[in-house]
Amino acid sequence: MNALSLDTVLLAENEKEMIILDQTLLPGEIKYLNLSKAEDIWEAIYSLRVRGAPAIGVAAGYGIYLLADQIETEDMDEFVAKFQEQKAYLDSARPTAVNLSWALNRMEKVLLAEKDGKTVAEMKQRLKEEAHAIREEDIAISRNIGQYGFELLRHGDGILTHCNAGTLATAKYGTALAPIYIALENGWDDLHVFCDETRPLLQGARLSAFEMQTAGVDTTLICDNMASITMKRGKIDIVFVGCDRVAANGDFANKIGTSGVAILAKHYGIPFYCCAPSSTIDMSIKSGDEIVIEERKPEEVTEMWYEKRMAPEGVKVNNPAFDVTDHTLVTGIITEKGIAYPPFDQAFIRMGIGK
Ligand code: MRU
Repeated sequence: MNALSLDTVLLAENEKEMIILDQTLLPGEIKYLNLSKAEDIWEAIYSLRVRGAPAIGVAAGYGIYLLADQIETEDMDEFVAKFQEQKAYLDSARPTAVNLSWALNRMEKVLLAEKDGKTVAEMKQRLKEEAHAIREEDIAISRNIGQYGFELLRHGDGILTHCNAGTLATAKYGTALAPIYIALENGWDDLHVFCDETRPLLQGARLSAFEMQTAGVDTTLICDNMASITMKRGKIDIVFVGCDRVAANGDFANKIGTSGVAILAKHYGIPFYCCAPSSTIDMSIKSGDEIVIEERKPEEVTEMWYEKRMAPEGVKVNNPAFDVTDHTLVTGIITEKGIAYPPFDQAFIRMGIGK
């Protein structure tokens, strides 16, 4: 089994449900869930059954299509109003990854632009096509990011990654792990991947290590606090991470712990790349200060994954799910349109991003 063969989010053949791989069960169990109700789709996003910024975007596209399809009316105004209610509900599931609102806004834009002259039934058909397009485009985008990232690699490189920005976080290939899949396709068998376990939800241990190992890559799992010694020992030549939202100046939010990795990489003089589909670049915000950071429940830190609670009852817990890496720590931002180098705002404009 190769994780690359697993689909993360699909529309079911009956077109009345979406099928997601339940990532909370990996790597122990490969189980798919069929979802059609608003609350179940919301819960799957909130609980990280489907996770990773681009995969959340794909799930949002199919999710809002399914909910729109369930609206029973022939009246377009009523259809639009109900669509917008469901859109706002899905949008509330997670705040940091821009892809959730990006995909929902894209679907709404199609609706508002094309509703005149169409019946509700025709509009539903059109929304389905758009949701499929989001998924198909994500595959192509991830592949391009992989190709650009691959060109930065040298034989024998050690690559550090944080969280999971692999095939499981997208429709296919991933962003930060896509260069490694492209390297494999090119017959490279001498790369070494180091996966930060990524406390508290262990996306590095459960997902990235699983992906890379099943793909046949030499994979080493490290606890987050081992990144420094691993770099000092000369094992890391390059860092690839994903992102959930990039600001116009190149500051970017990614899984909690990413900014620490960037600071370490700078200290040890290791190139640090953020892999970002242009849909995650939010030119409406100037810097990372404007990014809303998702706060999650304390039990993820104190209890989850442990056989018994591992912290005193009543202790205060902070559990921000993301942090913001300052653009000054970033060597380059790899998009599907090419690699942006500082100053990032100017590079994004030259690349036609955020027009
Ligand atoms: O909380 P998660 O697991 O959804 O966080 C995922 C990340 O931080 C990824 O690095 C990011 O979404 C990029 S996925 C290509």
